Amino acid sequence: MQHSKNSINMINMNFQLNYRSVRGSFFWTFLVVFTLGLAGLFSHKALAQDAAPKDTATAAPADATATAAPAGALSADAAVIASGKEVFDANCKQCHAVHEKVVGPALKDVSVRRTVPWLINFIKYPEKVIKSGDPYAVALYNEYKQIMPNHDFLKDEQIVAILSYVQDETKKGPAVAVAAGAGAGTTTEESGGSSGLLVLTICILATLLLLAGFALAILGRSFSLSMKQNRNFNEAEKEFLDENPFEIGAVIKSRPFLGVCTLIFIALIAKTVVEGLFTVGIQQGYAPDQPIPFSHKLHAGQYKIDCKYCHGTAARGKSAGIPAANLCMNCHNKIKTGSPEIQKIYAAIEKNEPIQWVRIHNLPDLAYFNHSQHVTVAGIECQRCHGNIEEMEIVQQSSLLTMGWCIACHRETEVNTKDNPYYEDMVKLHAKNAKKPLKVEDIGGLECAKCHY
Ligand code: HEC
Ligand code: HEC
Ligand code: HEC
Ligand code: HEC
Ligand code: HEC
Ligand code: HEC
Repeated sequence: MQHSKNSINMINMNFQLNYRSVRGSFFWTFLVVFTLGLAGLFSHKALAQDAAPKDTATAAPADATATAAPAGALSADAAVIASGKEVFDANCKQCHAVHEKVVGPALKDVSVRRTVPWLINFIKYPEKVIKSGDPYAVALYNEYKQIMPNHDFLKDEQIVAILSYVQDETKKGPAVAVAAGAGAGTTTEESGGSSGLLVLTICILATLLLLAGFALAILGRSFSLSMKQNRNFNEAEKEFLDENPFEIGAVIKSRPFLGVCTLIFIALIAKTVVEGLFTVGIQQGYAPDQPIPFSHKLHAGQYKIDCKYCHGTAARGKSAGIPAANLCMNCHNKIKTGSPEIQKIYAAIEKNEPIQWVRIHNLPDLAYFNHSQHVTVAGIECQRCHGNIEEMEIVQQSSLLTMGWCIACHRETEVNTKDNPYYEDMVKLHAKNAKKPLKVEDIGGLECAKCHY
């Protein structure tokens, strides 16, 4: 008897453990599914973006039947394709690739999207076609905000050869070129694709986990029912067996649940703190009041005074500089002389004290930034870094000015090598080893010492 009681207790203990873990797995499963669901929801946006290219991809074959005949005008002859490649490399390669976006669109399947005569006309006179209001060309222009140069010096046969070459490359599919260039460039498309896959994986996993969770819960339940029929248990044991794993009260009181809640709570606090730390020193949007309410909207916007008239050193030196009161006098010795705000300028000049403008953009001393390198050498508009100053009544800092901000632009911006003999050899060297255009990162724009002394 003693022996059998012991063994019942053993079974009981085992069972309690099993049952606990079954119930535990149910909570965990529920939690994991819930979290994954949330994650899925957040990446849903990526999925939606991902859907766009797919739409065009499915639209293309439908178009193909309509334009099948002209597309057939292209040649599969190896000699034509080779000559097409030659003309392409000489005239188009700097802006186009077949399978990826460079400056212009990826040319993959272009003769399926458009008829050959349309393409010949467009490649010869893109500006004319866009100005004629051709909806496809206008949409392209709106997307790329750039008109490709005329190629009216090319013969029709040469363009057909280029298109044949493109068609041939399309059929071959993206080869090493894409694998090699996977690091940068068409990042949006790539990340879109992988996040679509991620969401799908998450959905499948979530469904599987949910099913498993239910199966476990039902298994545990029927196990406890069958135990109850077969054995004599005391009250406490019966009560335990009667516990319903689906019961909310039990769930809330259970340790795994409380544990996970605490964890989530701690994680949320940690996230807020870390995010807070990352924004320390970021002054985006900073727009202090100035001693004189000088309006860029009025001076640079309405009166179209050139930025460099007042910030002349931006083109020549490290800093853009703030104009001295004397410069204001070029106009304000006659304009609005009675205005109390203008009187402040006179007062500053009389006292020989500068106007105390409040500085807005200010990098820490550890970082080196040079205006002329960006404005004159790279040809970057002031607005790209400072926003639409000419619309601002009060100047505000519109960019982050963090290291990440500098680096991101250096990764994606091409070096302006045009008419710059300094870059000639560098461009040639670069073209030998890489298909992508020369970016700032390729000339050392990510080296610590370039920005930190
Ligand atoms: C300076 C850069 C540049 C050069 C060089 C260039 N293109 Fe383009 N191309 C573009 C841009 C930008 C677009 C987008 C349309 C637009 O706004 O003009 C484009 C569009 C196109 C399109 C339409 C693509 C589509 O998806 O429908 C074709 C076809 C094309 N180019 C062919 C050529 C060929 C062939 C050459 C060489 C003979 C060439 N391009 C040279 C920049 C360039
Ligand atoms: C008539 C002279 C004048 C013109 C023209 C002018 N500015 Fe200014 N700018 C000033 C003065 C004075 C200040 C300092 C007061 C202020 O911040 O509003 C200033 C401040 C700025 C600042 C903020 C400086 C800081 O403290 O960080 C930026 C950025 C700036 N200007 C950019 C531009 C750009 C871009 C243009 C052309 C679209 C332009 N300015 C045209 C006179 C001018
Ligand atoms: C190229 C000519 C020009 C220069 C240089 C110039 N301004 Fe002006 N400013 C104007 C004009 C034009 C007006 C508008 C006058 C009006 O509303 O009738 C104006 C208006 C103003 C006003 C508004 C005055 C009021 O009471 O409405 C202020 C303040 C002002 N300027 C400050 C400055 C300061 C400070 C500088 C030097 C950093 C400066 N301006 C440089 C042309 C200039
Ligand atoms: C590549 C980005 C970039 C471009 C392009 C750019 N700026 Fe700046 N600008 C900055 C940064 C970064 C600072 C802060 C510099 C610092 O604190 O050392 C700044 C500071 C300024 C200041 C404050 C005074 C100073 O020199 O520090 C003015 C004024 C200014 N810029 C005007 C201009 C004007 C005008 C142009 C166009 C001719 C221009 N900027 C183009 C990034 C840019
Ligand atoms: C809008 C794009 C853009 C932003 C933002 C930008 N840069 Fe640049 N930067 C360029 C380009 C383009 C060049 C290449 C200029 C050339 O041809 O020499 C360059 C070159 C440089 C160089 C010289 C690199 C070399 O190899 O000679 C330094 C240093 C530099 N940037 C610092 C900065 C710092 C610091 C910031 C942030 C405060 C910054 N840049 C933000 C576009 C940008
Ligand atoms: C294109 C210019 C650029 C390059 C390249 C660059 N930095 Fe920076 N870095 C900056 C700027 C601008 C800041 C100031 C950012 C701020 O105030 O938020 C900065 C800040 C920093 C800081 C201080 C962070 C802080 O919060 O104060 C460190 C550390 C740093 N950089 C290290 C590096 C290292 C290491 C490298 C090389 C791997 C590097 N940087 C390359 C522009 C650059």
